[in-house]
Amino acid sequence: MKTIKVKNKTEGSKVAFKILQEEIEAGAKTLGLATGSTPLELYKEIRESHLDFSDMVSINLDEYVGLSADDKQSYAYFMKQNLFAAKPFKKSYLPNGLAADLAKETEYYDQILAQYPIDLQILGIGRNAHIGFNEPGTAFSSQTHLVDLTPSTIAANSRFFEKAEDVPKQAISMGLASIMSAKMILLMAFGEEKAEAVAAMIKGPVTEEIPASILQTHPKVILIVDEKAGAGI
Ligand code: F6R
Repeated sequence: MKTIKVKNKTEGSKVAFKILQEEIEAGAKTLGLATGSTPLELYKEIRESHLDFSDMVSINLDEYVGLSADDKQSYAYFMKQNLFAAKPFKKSYLPNGLAADLAKETEYYDQILAQYPIDLQILGIGRNAHIGFNEPGTAFSSQTHLVDLTPSTIAANSRFFEKAEDVPKQAISMGLASIMSAKMILLMAFGEEKAEAVAAMIKGPVTEEIPASILQTHPKVILIVDEKAGAGI
């Protein structure tokens, strides 16, 4: 794992943008994308750039079950607002959280991943070192799967919803093996609340209790951390 230490999120996002640009120039055709606050400035950099994705494919990490693409809390909506409206891809995939048969949907998503191997996967990391929706205890061998959200995640998400019953209880996520099959991974971590997870990911044992620790065994990972997130490494 190559670590790049930067001052802050803005600088880190610019470094990430440069790496992305170089990979596209070198022939990357399929991008793996994340939602959340971490990639927001990277997506802004991309929106304001000359980059053209019209001949490329994007595959997102995850989506909530039960939300439609025009629901403001869905990851499909997030991606449209922050990237796809300005920079459309030839084809963009997100798990369909409204699929009638969710097990079939996870299998379909794995077929998509097999058809379009990810050249560069963008990742954030959770405070407990989760990547995607792969919480501690998720098997390293996991492919795309249905996740029961933990009570603490449901409680944390409830602030975005008017009614408690509207808060998603499940999500579909690429698994850890799916993420590991990307040819290159670019993980960004910003802010002190990520410091412990970053230190555990890099220095801790490779264990399913620290989902991101699996990245220690990937041949091509670049980690971009700001001073605060990198305080423990
Ligand atoms: C998002 C995702 C999550 C986030 C992680 C960090 O698609 O899969 O694993 O990357 O929860 O979230 P932020 O960036 O909001 O701190």
